Amino acid sequence: MMEHFERFGLLINDQVVRTPVAIASMAGYVDAEYVRAREKHIGLAFIGGYSIDEPAMKASKLMAEGGRAEFIHEDIIPELRSQVSLMSGSDVVLGINMRGCTPAAFSRVAEEIGDGVVYEIDAHCRQVPMVEAGSGEHYLQNPAQLADTVKNLKNSGVTVSVKIRAGVAVDDRALARLLWKAGADILHIDLMDFGYQRLKQIRNSCPVLLIANNSLNTFDRVKDMFAHGADLVSLARKSDERTLSGLDAAITRYTDEQGWYNAPKQLCRGGDIRALTFCCMPVKSCPLIPTLDSLGIKRDEYIRIKEESVSGTPLEGGKNTCFGSLAWCCKNSSPCMFRDVTIQQTGISSKEYMRLKRQLSEKIIHHIYHDRKEDDAC
Ligand SMILES: Cc1cc2nc3c(=O)[nH]c(=O)nc-3n(C[C@H](O)[C@H](O)[C@H](O)COP(=O)(O)O)c2cc1C
Ligand code: SF4
Ligand code: SF4
Repeated sequence: MMEHFERFGLLINDQVVRTPVAIASMAGYVDAEYVRAREKHIGLAFIGGYSIDEPAMKASKLMAEGGRAEFIHEDIIPELRSQVSLMSGSDVVLGINMRGCTPAAFSRVAEEIGDGVVYEIDAHCRQVPMVEAGSGEHYLQNPAQLADTVKNLKNSGVTVSVKIRAGVAVDDRALARLLWKAGADILHIDLMDFGYQRLKQIRNSCPVLLIANNSLNTFDRVKDMFAHGADLVSLARKSDERTLSGLDAAITRYTDEQGWYNAPKQLCRGGDIRALTFCCMPVKSCPLIPTLDSLGIKRDEYIRIKEESVSGTPLEGGKNTCFGSLAWCCKNSSPCMFRDVTIQQTGISSKEYMRLKRQLSEKIIHHIYHDRKEDDAC
């Protein structure tokens, strides 16, 4: 698994994620057997959704009567134990997508099943019986309840994901920030027709791991999501072996050539704030200045954090580049002889340059969200 960690640098629930492709849950279909049949091509899978308390199970039964496939189990804990044990020996990181109506219902499952899996709160289901029961999309209309559920689950010491549908909450950015502050580790976002612009807004609102979802069945679409903030993509309806293996192979190939699988576009080309890693000194009128202003970052603070972050690394040098250091240099997709010669003289490859730019980006993002006073962050 070291090879996968070196390639993608992704850890979830303290486990290496072998590829940034996930299976999203489909009630009645996605269980351990479904995942194992596809395990060679994915890094993460959410089984379920499982209804974990009486009101949600009642809703599931109504939905099943209406013709939907559902997992119906009178006692959910033994079923989940059995599903988890069917995954043993697999290197797929496992998540359980759950529909429940109280914080206690979610915590009970976490206490019983333990911290070996990711717990995903289904705030996505829009089926009327489920919403009327107080689960699924109900949480997007009642974000305080959702945040309480996250906090409660976090008290059990487990990794928490929240599955949301974009465009339902009053403000997806505010929701993302609320869930991050409540302790959520992952936001799993069905982007509907909002596309990567909405993903970018969420990326620019919180530092949690983001899984983009909805019709991400081709490498071109996946690449767009990666370039605007996705850490992983997930598939449900097209989670067949052929599509998953094609995506896995294309992402792996691309990463082995480029070095940073989800490198952002440059800021002036519509990239998210991770792109500060590719930005110049703040000396001209361009999108950098308003971005720093919106983040509440002073120009000298931006200069200091970049200079400190590259100190002692191969990005520190570069006296023949525009600003005297590779810290200020552009993405490798922007042609530049000065940068390329410097990289060559420094003895690193273009791929290594991008890996170092990724580390710089992580330090900048850490500074924005964690090193500064609470109210300073965007
Ligand atoms: C039959 C079916 C069942 C689903 N069940 C769930 C579920 O239980 N929980 C959930 O969070 N999402 C559920 N979803 C939503 C999917 O996980 C996914 O968000 C959606 O299908 C869009 O992704 P796709 O375009 O890759 O299919 C379901 C989708 C389908 C088609
Ligand atoms: S600083 Fe450079 S890379 Fe960043 S937005 Fe301005 S011109 Fe683009
Ligand atoms: S030297 Fe080239 S890559 Fe570096 S900042 Fe100038 S134009 Fe961009």
